[in-house]
Amino acid sequence: MKTVCCSILGFGAIGQGVAEVLLKKKEYLENIGLEVKVVAVVDSKGATINPEGVDLANCLARKRTDGTVALDNLSGVEVIQSVAHDLVIETTPTNIRTGGAGLQNMFAAFQTGKDVITSNKGPLTLKYRELMEAAKVAGSHFRFEATVGGSMPIINLSNEVLAGNKIKSVKGILNGTCNYILTRMLEERASYNDILAESMQLGIAETDPTYDVEGIDTACKLVILANAIFGLDATYSDVKVTGITKVTPEALEMAYERGHVIKLIGEVSRERIHVAPRLVPINHPLAVGGALNVASVETELAGEITVTGKGAGPTETASAILSDLIAIYGN
Ligand code: HSE
Repeated sequence: MKTVCCSILGFGAIGQGVAEVLLKKKEYLENIGLEVKVVAVVDSKGATINPEGVDLANCLARKRTDGTVALDNLSGVEVIQSVAHDLVIETTPTNIRTGGAGLQNMFAAFQTGKDVITSNKGPLTLKYRELMEAAKVAGSHFRFEATVGGSMPIINLSNEVLAGNKIKSVKGILNGTCNYILTRMLEERASYNDILAESMQLGIAETDPTYDVEGIDTACKLVILANAIFGLDATYSDVKVTGITKVTPEALEMAYERGHVIKLIGEVSRERIHVAPRLVPINHPLAVGGALNVASVETELAGEITVTGKGAGPTETASAILSDLIAIYGN
C-alpha cells in the first residue's frame, strides 16, 4: 500500500467536495493500493493538522477545519512549509487579478518539493509558465484538470487520451452560468437579472458573476487550454472577449425561429483565442442546454471528439481532482 499524505487548502464548496469524495472512495483507493491521508485542512480562519490523518467527517460536519488541533491564522504557505506531506490539493477561491492565496500556495508547494493538484484558475491564468517551470525544477507533479470544465475531461483528454494527435482546435461552452442564463431566457422569457439571481442560488456562478456574464471566466479557461494543450505562452490579454450581457430574449427567440440557439462559445487554436456569443444550429453537438459545459476537440487523426458534462459543482469538480490524484499515484 502506498500512502499519500496531502493537505487540502481551501475548505469552501470544492474543498469540502474533495473531502467527501476521499471519504466515499477510501475503499476504492485502498483496493488500487493507495491510502490517501489528509494531514492538514486549511480554511480562511486557520488550519487543522494531524499527522495521523485529520478527521474529515468532523470537518465536513462543521463545514470548516475540525478544530482538533486548530491553529488559528495559520496560512496555507505556513502549513506547506511546516507539515510533512507529498501533495497539496489547492482549492482556494479563484482570484484572476492577483492569483490570490493560491498562487503563493503553489509556489511554496513546489519550493518544498510537493506535488500540486488544483481547481484554481487564477494562478494558472496569470503565471502558467512560471508555475510550470517551478514544478519542473522541483520535479513535482502539477495537474489541473478541474480548472476547466469541472467534471468534463478536456485537458487530460487532449494531452493523454488523445496522445499522438495534433490538436487543431478546442471549442465549446466552458461557462455553466452563461449557458444556464441563455437556456432559461429562451425557455421562460424571464428577465436576465432574475435568471442571474437564480444561477447564483444554484452555486455555479462566480462570487462576482460579472466574471461569468462578461466572458472573463471563459477567457481564463481558454488561456489555460492554450498553454496546456497548444504549448502557447498565452495570457488573458491574448483573448478577444465578448460576454452575453447584450443578448436579449428577442434575439434568442428570433434565432430559435430560424433553427439556432445563441451560446457563449470559447475557441482556442494556435492562431487565435476568442470568446463570444455565437449562433449554433439546434441539433449541433455544441447546442447543449441548462448549465452543462461542452467541448469539441478537432484532432489530426481522430476527427472531431465532443465531450459534455457538468462544469461546476463540488462533487463534479472533486471527480476531476480524484482522477488527477490517481494519475499521479496510481499503479
Ligand atoms: N462560474 C463557473 C461556471 C464555475 O459557471 O462555469 C466553474 O468554473
